[in-house]
Amino acid sequence: MWSEEQIEEYLKKNLEQKRFKHSISVRDTAIDMGKFYGENIEKLRIAGLVHDCAKNIKGYELINIARKHGYKIDDVCKKSPQLLHGLVGSIIAKEVMEINNKDILNAIAYHTTGRKNMTMIEKIIYLADYIEPLRKYDGVNELRKIAYKDIDKAMIESFNVTIKFVIERGQLIHLNTIEGRNYILKTVGE
Ligand SMILES: [Fe+2]
Ligand SMILES: [Fe+2]
Repeated sequence: MWSEEQIEEYLKKNLEQKRFKHSISVRDTAIDMGKFYGENIEKLRIAGLVHDCAKNIKGYELINIARKHGYKIDDVCKKSPQLLHGLVGSIIAKEVMEINNKDILNAIAYHTTGRKNMTMIEKIIYLADYIEPLRKYDGVNELRKIAYKDIDKAMIESFNVTIKFVIERGQLIHLNTIEGRNYILKTVGE
């Protein structure tokens, strides 16, 4: 597996500066949440750092890479290929950065859409991406507080924010996002 230094070099080369800073910020937020929730810090720091490594890849290329690796591209991703930057990020993490840990790879793969039955590591990366200190949008401060109080509630809130955002733009909602939200809503309080 690549050292963190090598990973940072790769990100500096392949991401815009703003996105690089965001990646560092997600790493730090994920570590902080990991400490709070008693989760594996090493997995979180790598997943947080790497999660957007495919962010600068063009849509058609994301589709090509995913196809080449045997993934079938669903209609929503065909229409909004940027949704694939998580999946392709996990492919790069594995093949280029030699990261083999499944928990890390899944957290990277599902950080954009979410999915049903997410692990704590996946939830923390998903949320850290949303609440890292450089993020600015209405309600972010409230979400930051909830993320440290009730992680499932924070997940529902961030799914809601995402879905509203997608609707406002007239875009398609990915099935994983709907399933992720339904799953938590169904299981919360059970
Ligand atoms: Fe992302
Ligand atoms: Fe991100």
